[in-house]
Amino acid sequence: MPEFVEIFEMGPRDGLQNEKRLIPAADKIALVDLLSRAGFRRIEVTSFVSPKWVPQMADAAEVLAGITRRPGVRYAALTPNLKGYEGARSARADEVAIFASASEGFSRANLNCTVAESLDRFAPVAEAARADGIPVRGYVSVVTDCPFDGPTPPANVARVTAALRDLGCYEISLGDTIGQGRPETIDAVLAAVLEEVPASQLAGHYHDTAGRAIDNIDASLARGVRVFDAAVGGLGGCPYAPGAAGNVATEKVAAHLAARGLDTGLDMDVLRQAAAMAQGMRR
Ligand code: HMG
Ligand code: MG
Repeated sequence: MPEFVEIFEMGPRDGLQNEKRLIPAADKIALVDLLSRAGFRRIEVTSFVSPKWVPQMADAAEVLAGITRRPGVRYAALTPNLKGYEGARSARADEVAIFASASEGFSRANLNCTVAESLDRFAPVAEAARADGIPVRGYVSVVTDCPFDGPTPPANVARVTAALRDLGCYEISLGDTIGQGRPETIDAVLAAVLEEVPASQLAGHYHDTAGRAIDNIDASLARGVRVFDAAVGGLGGCPYAPGAAGNVATEKVAAHLAARGLDTGLDMDVLRQAAAMAQGMRR
């Protein structure tokens, strides 16, 4: 039996959040419904963030209300604070994600607060989710390079990852937000993080700005990571990370893993259709 490696689909959230044209909720719902047929266990659908900060995600509740939920698929949403968490819970998100930064510069740009303040804000979110039985995932951004502060010391990533684990995150996804990581820098980050958190609780979230995401995935596989975030069609970027390109394309990761003899359980035909649909939304 080939070993299983999971791709967590990010397209509807990380993929679309950066699009300037407001995409109708119906189109987002159609994309999620198509992705639901591809075999993903987890799909990040939207984020409950300030609509002043990310107008594209202002329809979060409408999108979650409109999708057809397929049994066995968990539909996730980003929640930066309690207000966002309450929105996600009312909209019946199956899991939520809190997202911190390994650098002060990116934390300020993305969340308008310091790293320590962001962790303080996430604590009541994690507590409420635990009380409600909703799993919480964590992200650490700019794990190798920050567009504001330069190279990120691996020890900072390990510290923030451990803090998210202590808040109760069942998995922490390490973000190369601006796609400047290299296999060596990803390896150094993982070496530091693995001192705190086992590979079974980590995921790799690599943007493909410099075309190195697949190499970075290979470096992470060598360190035991078995979950990778990706977005169909390679859509996206982060509005608060200048120059960030999309997440690595799901279809590219799935093909690469298959060529390495690893099983993602994904239907390549449906993935191709979803990539075409996602790219059609980018006009
Ligand atoms: P702030 O302006 O400091 O917050 O933003 P505030 O508490 O002063 O509130 C300002 C206004 O926003 C208020 O409205 C609040 O009610 C409202 P007003 O009174 O002015 O009318 N507000 C909200 N509205 C809806 N939902 C909410 C919410 N919270 C406040 N949850 C804040 C702080 C955290 C809200 C803001 O900075 C924010 O929304 N940031 C999110 C930015 C974002 O979504 N970035 C992209 C996702 S992260 C990412 O892409 C990286 C990742 O992919 C990993 C990687 O690649 O590294 C995950
Ligand atoms: Mg991202």
